[in-house]
Amino acid sequence: MVKIAPSILSADFCRLEDDIKKVSSADWLHVDVMDGMFVPNISIGMPVIQSIRKHTDMFLDTHLMVEKPGRYIDAFAAAGADLLTLHLEADMPPAIHAALDKADILKVKKGIALRPITAAEAVIPYLERGLDLILVMTVEPGFGGQSFMSDQLPKISAIRSYIEKYCPACHLEVDGGINAQTAQQCVEAGADVLVAGSAVYGAEDISAAITALRKTQEHR
Ligand code: DX5
Ligand code: ZN
Repeated sequence: MVKIAPSILSADFCRLEDDIKKVSSADWLHVDVMDGMFVPNISIGMPVIQSIRKHTDMFLDTHLMVEKPGRYIDAFAAAGADLLTLHLEADMPPAIHAALDKADILKVKKGIALRPITAAEAVIPYLERGLDLILVMTVEPGFGGQSFMSDQLPKISAIRSYIEKYCPACHLEVDGGINAQTAQQCVEAGADVLVAGSAVYGAEDISAAITALRKTQEHR
């Protein structure tokens, strides 16, 4: 069953509570944290997540586009994130493993994200240890509203086969340029969680946009 995770990066931050309610038919809420170092953009951090947590029970799928994310695992877990996804390019492998260990201790779910340039094989050591999610970026991370990179589709298929082999319960999420058409391609390649910012918040009828994304699963 495909999960839909609207990205609040495309919401109106002055009307965030309303904009979160508008996507309540979705499965998860995707929260993009950017530090201006790992990516050129700066978005939101722990205080905003803490406030969101007070106003919704939705599962907070937190995408950390942050250098050396191990520094902040405790803080994001305390703020109320349900899942912390770290970029494997954001630190040396031992530090990424240590950050994932910390997530385990804090009983927060954990994921690994890949930039478009990073090869599928890079996920294997992380899958072997056990993960809740792998996130394949289908645009360069940092900004909403970019075009889907179809050259990531073979990577999605390859990672799906690694998941089946090493950690079958792990989710495979795609993020960047996802709309009803590109969602279909991603689901066919093996994705089961679809992040969408502009395709949801830019739609005239937000619920209909979520329903359209959900329909992709029927063709699988
Ligand atoms: C980009 C973020 C995405 C972004 C997606 O770095 O990780 O989550 O919000 O936006 P769209 O769906 O507009 O490409
Ligand atoms: Zn994201």
